[in-house]
Amino acid sequence: MSLINDIISKSAKKNVNLKEEEIKKVLTELDIMLTRSYSKYSSIKVASVLCFKNGDIIGGCNIENSSFSHTVCAERCAVFSSLSQGKDLSQVKAVFITSSEDSYFYPCGACRQVLKEFIPLSVPIIILKKNNSIFNERSEVYTLGELFPYPFNL
Ligand code: THU
Repeated sequence: MSLINDIISKSAKKNVNLKEEEIKKVLTELDIMLTRSYSKYSSIKVASVLCFKNGDIIGGCNIENSSFSHTVCAERCAVFSSLSQGKDLSQVKAVFITSSEDSYFYPCGACRQVLKEFIPLSVPIIILKKNNSIFNERSEVYTLGELFPYPFNL
């Protein structure tokens, strides 16, 4: 099965319909975001793309700092970029994540908490793996609620 069909069927199981054209746009944006990653300390490039119900997509990449703890992850970069552009994050229908590592790169705890602040727990998080710069045909898809079952709330 191709990656696109794999994403379509796994997100449908999470009650989200993604179209082929939409996914192709996201894959291109993920690749652009990997090129923009500022990761001179870890050499790990991470990209995330938020996919909105109206067809808009907004990406983010990890941005490191010589004072390591000031690094911003790709997922939070995508969230903050979207908010600063005036987007309504309740309208996000899927979140994509990939990295330059040959592994499925799950969002860290801080990013799960930040995603949860703005994005419904029912939204699928679609994790893609690249080997030798080609996307692996198998995606991993979990809802935000599955990844972050007991969120901190105020
Ligand atoms: N990173 C992300 O971009 N997202 C995560 O969820 C976990 C980690 C980045 C931060 C840092 O630039 C690199 O991966 C290694 O930790």
